[in-house]
Amino acid sequence: MSKKSFIRFTFSAWLFIMTCTGGEKAAAQNTQTPPLKEIFKNDFLIGTAMNAQQIEEKDAAADRLIKQQFNAVTPENVMKAEIIQPGWNKYDFDLADKLVAYAQQNNIKVNAHTLIWHSQLPAFMHGMRDADSVRQYFINHITNVASRYDGKVYSWDVVNEALNEDGTLRKSIFLEKLGDNYIVEAFRLAQKAAPHTKLYYNDYNIEQPEKRAGAIAVIKKIQAAGVRIDGVGIQGHWKAGTVPMQNIEESIKEFSALGIEVMFTELDLGVLPNPWNNNTAEVSSTAKGSAAMNPYANGLPDSVEQMQSKAYADLFSLFMKYKNNVTRGTFWGVNDGQSWLNGWPIPGSTNYPLLFDRNFKPKAAFYSVIATVTPRGN
Ligand code: XIL
Repeated sequence: MSKKSFIRFTFSAWLFIMTCTGGEKAAAQNTQTPPLKEIFKNDFLIGTAMNAQQIEEKDAAADRLIKQQFNAVTPENVMKAEIIQPGWNKYDFDLADKLVAYAQQNNIKVNAHTLIWHSQLPAFMHGMRDADSVRQYFINHITNVASRYDGKVYSWDVVNEALNEDGTLRKSIFLEKLGDNYIVEAFRLAQKAAPHTKLYYNDYNIEQPEKRAGAIAVIKKIQAAGVRIDGVGIQGHWKAGTVPMQNIEESIKEFSALGIEVMFTELDLGVLPNPWNNNTAEVSSTAKGSAAMNPYANGLPDSVEQMQSKAYADLFSLFMKYKNNVTRGTFWGVNDGQSWLNGWPIPGSTNYPLLFDRNFKPKAAFYSVIATVTPRGN
C-alpha cells in the first residue's frame, strides 16, 4: 500500500469508529472527508474565509463543508470599513451580525477582519484632507465596531498591512494625517472598546527579513506603550513551489520570542505565474491577462497538483513543529472556485490554491496536510 492510500485507509477506519461510537457528528455526515478541525484539534485552530453568499447560507455545499471542517472563520469582506461603515457615521452591521450568529450556532471562532486598513475604505474617506476628520473617523470606527462585537468575536485584526516591503510604514491616509503613532493608538482604542477580544497585527510578506524587522519594531512599540497586542498574522498568499520556508520558520521563532501568538491567516498556494515575479498581496495591484498567464483554464495537471500537495505538506509540517507557537491556520476561501485569486491580480483567471476543488472534493493537498499529524493510536 502506498503512503497516501495508507493514510486514506487509516482515516476511513478512524471515521468508521467515530461514526459507530457517535463521537463526531460532522464526520458521520460525510464519511469521505475527515474534518480538519478534528485532526488538528490538539494543535491549532483551522479556519476559512467566508464570503457574503456563504454567510447568508445561500451556498449549501459550502455551508456543509464549513460546519464540518473548520472551527475558525474570518469574514472575507463583510467587516471591512467600506461595508460596515458605508457612510459617515452610518453603519451597516447586517452581514457581520449574521456571521457572528452563524459562528455562535456552530461553535466556530470569529477572527474579525479588519479595523484599520488602507484598502476597501468607504468612499467618503477617499481624498479626505482634514486631519481632524480622519481622527474622528479613526476613533469612532474602532470604538463603535470593536465594542459592538466584544465578547462575540474571538479576535480582531486591528491593523492590516501597515508596512512597506522595506519595513518602513506605508504611506496611508492614517500615517499621513495621524502620524506614525497611529498603530499604537489603534490598538489602544481597540483594547478599550474590546477588552475581551484578542488583538492582532496582520500583514503579507512579513516573513521576509526586512519587512519582518519592521513588524517586530511595530509590535515592540505597542508593547512598550503598555498597550495589548496578542498576536501577529502572517497572511500566507504564497505560490506553490516557492514558499519561503526558511523565512517562515525564522519568523515563527522571532515573533514568538515577543511573547505573542503566531497565525497564518490567509493561506492560499496559487499555481499560476505571477505577473511581477514577486509576492505582493496588495489588492490594488492588478495586471492584464493572457493565455500564458492562465495555463490551467481546462484543468489542473496532476504534476502541478502533486507539487502543490508537497508544498502544503512542508508548510503544515512546519506549523506542527511549532504547534506550541502557531495558534491558527486559516485558508483564504472554501474551495478553489471561490478563491479571490481567480480575480486577482488578473481578472478571469482559473487558479487552484486551496484544499478543496471546485466541487468541494478534497484535493491531494488536503490529504498531505492531514498526513502531517500522526493518526491517533499510532
Ligand atoms: C481580498 C478579498 O478576498 C477579495 O474578495 C476583495 O475583493 C479584496 O480583498 N489581504 C487581505 C484581505 O487582508 O482582506 C484581502 O482579501 C486579500 C489580501
